[in-house]
Amino acid sequence: MTDQPQRITLRRPDDWHLHLRTGAMLKAVLPHSAAQLGRAIVMPNLAPPVVDTARAEIYRDEILAALPAGSHFRPLMTAYLTDGTDADDIEAGHAKGVFTAVKLYPAHATTNSAHGVTDFDKVAPVLDRMAKIGMPLLVHGEVTDQSVDIFDREAVFIDTVLPKLMGRHPDLKIVLEHITTEEGVAVVRQHGPGGKLAATITAHHLMINRSSIFVGGIRPHLYCLPIAKREKHRLALRAAATSGEPWFFFGTDSAPHPIGAKESACGCAGIYTAATAVELYAQVFDEEGALDKLEAFASLNGPAFYGLPVNESFITLEKSGLIVPDVLDVGGNIAVLPFRSGERLDWRLV
Ligand code: DOR
Ligand code: ZN
Repeated sequence: MTDQPQRITLRRPDDWHLHLRTGAMLKAVLPHSAAQLGRAIVMPNLAPPVVDTARAEIYRDEILAALPAGSHFRPLMTAYLTDGTDADDIEAGHAKGVFTAVKLYPAHATTNSAHGVTDFDKVAPVLDRMAKIGMPLLVHGEVTDQSVDIFDREAVFIDTVLPKLMGRHPDLKIVLEHITTEEGVAVVRQHGPGGKLAATITAHHLMINRSSIFVGGIRPHLYCLPIAKREKHRLALRAAATSGEPWFFFGTDSAPHPIGAKESACGCAGIYTAATAVELYAQVFDEEGALDKLEAFASLNGPAFYGLPVNESFITLEKSGLIVPDVLDVGGNIAVLPFRSGERLDWRLV
């Protein structure tokens, strides 16, 4: 008889939505993702944003140079869609293997989105071109009308904007990023089988609801966009993620900000989950009795939707427990607080 902890092995996951930033922050956070994942879709919302192929190549090279020696992690670059995006440049960047996808932020939806799309007519030629070449559009699905309640912005986007976008570009592959509502789950279930709509689900939206942000006081480290919603939505997300349905996949939206920028009179949106991304999802899947569905969600569904091969390598998780690391030192008196820092998770990557 042995008392070996329970283990599971799965194909190496990819992160289909990740913020890596630049400079010292990039150098500090990248090793976390590189240690766990095969690839990541890298968000382009830098200041200034990554709007064209030339800029994306420079950013990709900065990421590659910051990788730990021997790492096989591959960044998959995205273009930040603006009213002025050039369809020819996007197509050329895609053909060259620089761009994997294009990110649509409605103007002013979130961090560094001031250059986002204000007029869907203006971007129609780019979206038509992407549909033609099979390049996915990654959508931050929230309306930006400040008169719409912040907790309703995703549902209103799904009701009013998404149908027009899909109706106008029926052949365009769309990923509804970081869904947070039962409306998001429902629309992806409705259109998923058609092969043109899928969604990423973050680990934190599977773990917190909107009340979590106010437990015992205001908790700025749980503030992100889209903001966490009611408990019924969290439960809908957990059911979707653990269902094994191919249109839901792993995308952390891990978004590091200096602690000082979070703990502020006007704190930034973003939750840093990359330090223990796989362990956080494993915790949720185990709690739901669905560890057998983790590999599909984390490692198979994303590549299938993007039309990319799955990773060749595997990871093993062990149910021996892990304490989420304390603050991550970025240098220059800057630090980042990982989600659930100091708390115990049941699974650890071996
Ligand atoms: O919480 C968020 N943080 N949501 C986003 O959409 C952007 C991200 C960031 O870049 O900090
Ligand atoms: Zn994001």
